[in-house]
Amino acid sequence: MIVVMRSNCSDENIEHVLTFLKNQGLTGHPSVGAERTIIGVLGSVGPSGAPGGLGGINPTLGENLESLPGVESVLRVSKPYKLASREFHPEDTIVDVPTACVSEGVVHIGGNAVIMMAGPCTVETEKQLMTTAEAVRKEGAVILRGGAFKPSTSPYGFRGLGEDGLKLLAKARATFGMAVITEVMTPTDVPLVCEYADILQIGTRNMQNYMLLDAVGRTQKPVVLKRGMSATFEEWLLAAEYVLSQGNPNVILCERGIRTFEKATRNTMDISAFPLIERLSHLPIISDPSQGTGRRDLVGPMSLASIAAGTDALLIEVHPNPDEALKDGAQSLTLDQFQSLMPEAQAVARAVGRTFI
Ligand code: E4P
Ligand code: PEP
Repeated sequence: MIVVMRSNCSDENIEHVLTFLKNQGLTGHPSVGAERTIIGVLGSVGPSGAPGGLGGINPTLGENLESLPGVESVLRVSKPYKLASREFHPEDTIVDVPTACVSEGVVHIGGNAVIMMAGPCTVETEKQLMTTAEAVRKEGAVILRGGAFKPSTSPYGFRGLGEDGLKLLAKARATFGMAVITEVMTPTDVPLVCEYADILQIGTRNMQNYMLLDAVGRTQKPVVLKRGMSATFEEWLLAAEYVLSQGNPNVILCERGIRTFEKATRNTMDISAFPLIERLSHLPIISDPSQGTGRRDLVGPMSLASIAAGTDALLIEVHPNPDEALKDGAQSLTLDQFQSLMPEAQAVARAVGRTFI
């Protein structure tokens, strides 16, 4: 349910609605837009009061709310996800990430500019990370990726340097001014990863790890939420809803390919995600063509296709010597390949009316 406030309503009117909702055992999430404030209502509001009756509206509750000062109307949200839905928040959400290497000191994910996030799949050594960070920064990347806590299908695979990897990422940030994105895999690691990261990454394998979603939702850090490898859009947006409903509005979705019967690629990049998510949700969406294809020869074409389809950023794996990478070498671009991709990406962004940083 959504309470739409009048454009000229006062702060007291909004407070009054929030208090009214609280007294009914409900929670109001205000969203302040350029035109007006709308308040998403979470809790049981169905006619029978049955749990989960979030879409239907108890007629008395609806009428009482509509009679409060400053309220214009009360609407039903048709989707099972509420705070993530475009209905709740008609304007695009822009997530700000502090980034020292840009003159403004912050990059806006979800605005007109397409953002480049790049770096190694996994932090391996100081030399490997610094060489990659320097090279991608030189070409214009503003956010450095690198895994310190790595998911691994095999228990014998490399699982990352842990906190030592986070420290190396912090060193690269201090040297090159780039913001850092890195994966967090357990709720207990959230405080530690928050000390080092500017963006928390939730990997595909953890998209439905609800305790982890709750834990990152209790921070205010930007969260990149990767699509589960067989998740529908609805499941993905409900996962985002977990983070939002804990009070963290800074959610960024990431299309990283889904599992299909096709064996020529590691995953199948779902390019329809960009325009479709834009219709369903106000949240920014970014593209990971490295995981999405598993093949470095396809990373460039899928990057360009993602920009044309509306991605807000690219997340790309780059390695100084991919053949020796401890993880995901086959899908990591060489430094030269990354250098060639940048002007192409900028040209496509310009062609679809976007800028590129
Ligand atoms: C991401 O970088 C993951 O750690 C990696 O893709 C996992 O690969 P695996 O499933 O082969 O272990
Ligand atoms: C990654 O980007 O490091 C990663 C593990 O990706 P995904 O969760 O999409 O497999």
